[in-house]
Amino acid sequence: MTKLRVLSGMQPSGQPTLGNYIGAMRNYVKLQHTHDCYFMVVDLHAITVPQDPGALKEQTESVAALYLAAGIDPSQATIFLQSSVSGHAELGWLLTTLTYMGELERMTQFKDKSEGKESVGVGLFTYPSLMAADILLYNADLVPVGDDQKQHLELTRDLAHRFNGRFGDTFKIPQGYIPEVGARIMSLDDASKKMSKSNPNAGSYIAMLDAPDVIRKKISRAVTDSGREVKFDPVNKPEVSNLLSIYSAVTDQSVEEIEAMYAGQGYGPFKKGLAEAVVALLEPLQQKYKDIRESGDLQRILREGREKASEQAERTLGEVKSKMGYVIL
Ligand code: TYM
Repeated sequence: MTKLRVLSGMQPSGQPTLGNYIGAMRNYVKLQHTHDCYFMVVDLHAITVPQDPGALKEQTESVAALYLAAGIDPSQATIFLQSSVSGHAELGWLLTTLTYMGELERMTQFKDKSEGKESVGVGLFTYPSLMAADILLYNADLVPVGDDQKQHLELTRDLAHRFNGRFGDTFKIPQGYIPEVGARIMSLDDASKKMSKSNPNAGSYIAMLDAPDVIRKKISRAVTDSGREVKFDPVNKPEVSNLLSIYSAVTDQSVEEIEAMYAGQGYGPFKKGLAEAVVALLEPLQQKYKDIRESGDLQRILREGREKASEQAERTLGEVKSKMGYVIL
């Protein structure tokens, strides 16, 4: 039986966070054994907001190395850079011409990122059409993402239907793969905002590469409430519920088990336990990360990934262009 295809990506626009790991990356690792997987670093998406060239290069390599450190095995899954496969930009343009302004205007991520800005780049606006191209180029069946990408995935599905309706059956209609626990990890300083690598307050997130003592400090300072009961109640106790979700995702214990473990103990021991669980998860990953960066293997792995991804992308793009009426030479 042919394996279902999985595709996903992460932006190299800052330090990847525990939110990125729990919401997406750890599912990449799980899916690689049973699916035909493509994981990319979406460096074309990163420049929808200004990036310093030196920082972009470093962060791109860093995200790729984190994929490997988290356990993605290049002999099982294809790891590549979005910018190294020119088909992304090309199909991105073709799909942009099928996208309506109103659809992009409704995107909450665009609204959030453009709010209060004097000038907003066009790329930030058309970003979701490029994301649709990323997914449809590989005819992905499943797209593991966090909750914040649901709306972009819906648009991808709409564009696939629209293309198929207008030019004949071409694209598969992809499904999201969104975890039950941890699809939306919130900030440590404000449980109404998602944990984000672009938050200027580094205390609001745990970066995957934060040193153990930094992790301990950030968790001990995480906002809670004036109560002392460790209880999952997102409406009345959003901060504690967020920490419980992180705890559960990181240890694979159920929320109920964790509640029972800390019953009657207050927040201190709970936060300490959480900090140690996060350190236990990230410390070995950080050691592997260091080894990978030092090994010099990254370039080769990304080049091999590019070869495999390009082959697939070229095939789809050829079919798309021919169906749209382009002269194929
Ligand atoms: P990005 O780089 O913002 O985030 C990468 C992945 O991490 C998930 N995520 C979270 N999950 C739970 N809690 C959080 N606080 C949290 N923050 C981020 C995101 O949902 C995402 O899955 N547009 C995408 C990148 C992209 C892409 C694609 C994804 C471009 N093309 C094609 C899938 C398929 C983005 O900005 O992700």
